Amino acid sequence: MTEEKSDKVDMEKIVSLSRRRGFIFPSSEIYGGLQSCWDYGPLGVELKRNVKEAWWRAMVQERDDMVGMDASIMMHPKTWEASGHLEGFTDPLVECKNCHLRWKADELEGDKCPSCGGELTEPRLFNMMFKTFMGPVEDDASVVYLRPETAQGMFVNFQNVLNTTRKRLPFGIAQIGKAFRNEITTGNFIFRSREFEMMEIEYFVKPGTDEEWFDYWLEERLNWYIKLGIDKDHLRFREHSKEELSHYSRRTVDINYLFPMGWAELEGIANRGDFDLSQHAKFSGKELNYFDEETKEHFVPCVVEPSVGVSRPVLAFLCDAYDEEPDKDEIRVVLRFHPDLAPMKVAVLPLSRREPLVEMAKDVYAGLRKCWAVAYDDAQSIGRRYRRQDEIGTPFCVTVDFQSLEDNQVTIRERDSMNQIRLPVEELQETLTAKLAGEDLFVLPPGGTVWLEETKK
Ligand code: GAP
Repeated sequence: MTEEKSDKVDMEKIVSLSRRRGFIFPSSEIYGGLQSCWDYGPLGVELKRNVKEAWWRAMVQERDDMVGMDASIMMHPKTWEASGHLEGFTDPLVECKNCHLRWKADELEGDKCPSCGGELTEPRLFNMMFKTFMGPVEDDASVVYLRPETAQGMFVNFQNVLNTTRKRLPFGIAQIGKAFRNEITTGNFIFRSREFEMMEIEYFVKPGTDEEWFDYWLEERLNWYIKLGIDKDHLRFREHSKEELSHYSRRTVDINYLFPMGWAELEGIANRGDFDLSQHAKFSGKELNYFDEETKEHFVPCVVEPSVGVSRPVLAFLCDAYDEEPDKDEIRVVLRFHPDLAPMKVAVLPLSRREPLVEMAKDVYAGLRKCWAVAYDDAQSIGRRYRRQDEIGTPFCVTVDFQSLEDNQVTIRERDSMNQIRLPVEELQETLTAKLAGEDLFVLPPGGTVWLEETKK
């Protein structure tokens, strides 16, 4: 993490908005919370699902060279011997001889306990994998680990995927799933937690082409964030030094984002070479080779791995979307989410709670819910309702007013410009589909008009 801070938003505002509007709550809050675990509320779960869906669509569905899978969280314990996690997934920790708190040795400034000033032990290696037991007996033979990365599930299934899909190199396997790490230093809201979801790709290539593919994936992943609305000046690459490289990596570059607390790792892209497949072949005794039909050679493919924890893009998208602007005597808070990410795509707002206006609004609401996540809000003034939707990033509000009962038309109000158009109800779904896909608001459907301030009732 670097000293430079985002000038856009501070973390407190994001934490407070997330909690106030139901994006993210501390886990088990009624019991005082569980350190570094978070619960996604009604809006947070939609946002997180949208991030995962956008990733899956771009990385799997729209590509011919990628397939998905979903491996189990608990894997054969030998997996972690082969992968090097049992030996190498460690942090050197020191323990206070007085209060017994443990600290990361390389993050301490002095040689005393930062909490009580007590004397510290020599550093000892501490494995970050969570351990549990499988079956009724709690002995060494029944120890299993909660996976600290989803990657290994894809390596051990390499041959299964190859045989069942007949993919040829280069091709990738993608997976989204939970991972667990007993992190010593947590914090910065959802940036680093002990339980988190990962979106990982293992992209298998012919040895010798790995460096080229590595560069390809750097650009591909950077562009994914930019396409979904992150300001490119808030993103940059950071090359790992030789000393920093993980045990499996030939080269690693992070995509860093300018989070409120400074530049920090959003995603890591690693060239894992043939380390993982070779290790699993050695430990399992099974061949994990590829046969090249053209050259008639058998070889172990190399792997390029773009890997990201879902909560980091969720936080980055929240921070980058956050905006405040003057609004008469108040401040308008807007989450300018890309429509694909917005938790609610549309809000239906009846101007009054009176019948038959409500009936018409509920009909519109029921129709639109078949297509998208839609909110319905009839409490307080229309101005306040617009502000509430702006604050959660809803791209469009549909207002049903008394004139709607006569002309069967409704207005659409755009979140960012606050411009409005009016259109026949029967054009609503198609028009919203086009606008959510990026069409200019003022491209009008048949019977539609620009709804100017002076024409509004
Ligand atoms: N399979 C490669 C791997 O696990 P990593 O650099 O340890 O590599 C990859 O983790 C990504 O996972 C990071 O770039 C980050 O986005 C995310 N990540 C790692 N630890 C995390 C944590 N404790 N909480 C949230 N996300 C985390």
